[in-house]
Amino acid sequence: MHYFKFKGNTLYCENASVKKLAGEFGTPLYIYSQRTLMEHFVKLQKAFRSLDPLICYSVKVNSNLAIMKLLVSKGAGLDIVSGGELYRAKKAGCSAQKIVYASVGKTEQEIEDALLKGILMFNVESVTELQRINGIAIRCKKQCNVALRFNPGVDAKTHSYITTGKYENKFGMDEKIVKELILKRYKFANVNIVGIHMHIGSQITQSAPYVNAIKKVAKLFTELKKYGIHLSYFNIGGGLGIVYDKEKPQTAEAFAKKVIPLLKPLKVKVILEPGRFIVGNAGILVAKVLYIKETPKKRFVIVDAAMNDLIRPSLYGAYHNIEPITKNLKRKTKNSKLSDIVGPICESGDFLGKDRKIQVKEGEYISVFGSGAYAFSMSSTYNSRPRAAELLVDGSKIRCVRQRESYEDLIDKEKIS
Ligand code: LLP
Repeated sequence: MHYFKFKGNTLYCENASVKKLAGEFGTPLYIYSQRTLMEHFVKLQKAFRSLDPLICYSVKVNSNLAIMKLLVSKGAGLDIVSGGELYRAKKAGCSAQKIVYASVGKTEQEIEDALLKGILMFNVESVTELQRINGIAIRCKKQCNVALRFNPGVDAKTHSYITTGKYENKFGMDEKIVKELILKRYKFANVNIVGIHMHIGSQITQSAPYVNAIKKVAKLFTELKKYGIHLSYFNIGGGLGIVYDKEKPQTAEAFAKKVIPLLKPLKVKVILEPGRFIVGNAGILVAKVLYIKETPKKRFVIVDAAMNDLIRPSLYGAYHNIEPITKNLKRKTKNSKLSDIVGPICESGDFLGKDRKIQVKEGEYISVFGSGAYAFSMSSTYNSRPRAAELLVDGSKIRCVRQRESYEDLIDKEKIS
């Protein structure tokens, strides 16, 4: 579900013509639909209403301040993974008591900053990290809350780079260690272990991996009660998949129906950390066709966006639907070769799509759909390409929420001598 629709032959984002925006703001250009992302957030809120959870939007997914602020204004908390994201969270006006902090490699400085800001809790990924947080808390004369990240050893059936809940993955701790830490929690004087965190992966389309993992954690909660230990929080992470191609992901309601019966009896505060589900289909990347090039074997549509703008196809072989923003039904190309849509970067791995049926001419614009999540936030300036501009559309209202970077920006921090 999203508000990028063709009206006649022209693609619109809500009430704004994408062609007009591309002409005015230039390309490559990210365009986000406010209505789409807000509706996705509300869908989750509604589906989980009976649990009254804290929904912590995962900042890494799209960390534009305007988007973070919108979600925070609707009651979202934030899931952060670095000092930089903590900085953004404060700029977006998020209450520290709605911030949870995961990452296998938090530095001392990052831990101290988050501790002094008074975040809701750290999601702790190892025994030594727990010891370090305790040491820093003692030095700062502070008390802090943590959830232990539990690695349930389940396969989320997604791309291997974004599977996080298997024992081969670097994340979290296995059941034995988690239990041991909780039973010996008195050893960590300035840390309160208040909950369990899990996050089994991303772009998960089935409910079974969640159900299996949640059941394992639920068993742990029940066992701990026998020792008189009642933890207050269960953070089930993010990971809900979206449609890029022909996926059939579970809806928020279907997901909630499966997991609420497992969570309710635990009588804990539930935390969710969604990202892609909220913003994934709320963004497109618009690019201009620079050249059409034919080789004996291939047809290349060379556009002005590249792997530095959107790395998902190159990095994960991810599929993004790509279409011209103006439909021309009469148009036919002379040959029927499939096209690779590629950028100007000097790598053969620089592509946005492979073997596509696309009818497009030089000078026209294309839209890469599903570019709201892990798109701009993973962009770089490789090949000294300034980063794209970002627009947020709300009905007919257009806001440029990040200016296009300039050549000066590229060298701003560099010194010749
Ligand atoms: N919580 C934790 C602890 C995470 O590590 C992540 C994502 C999330 C929540 C949000 O997951 P989501 O709801 O968006 O699936 N760059 C990859 C995805 C990496 C996922 C990283 N962790 C991609 O483009 O597919």
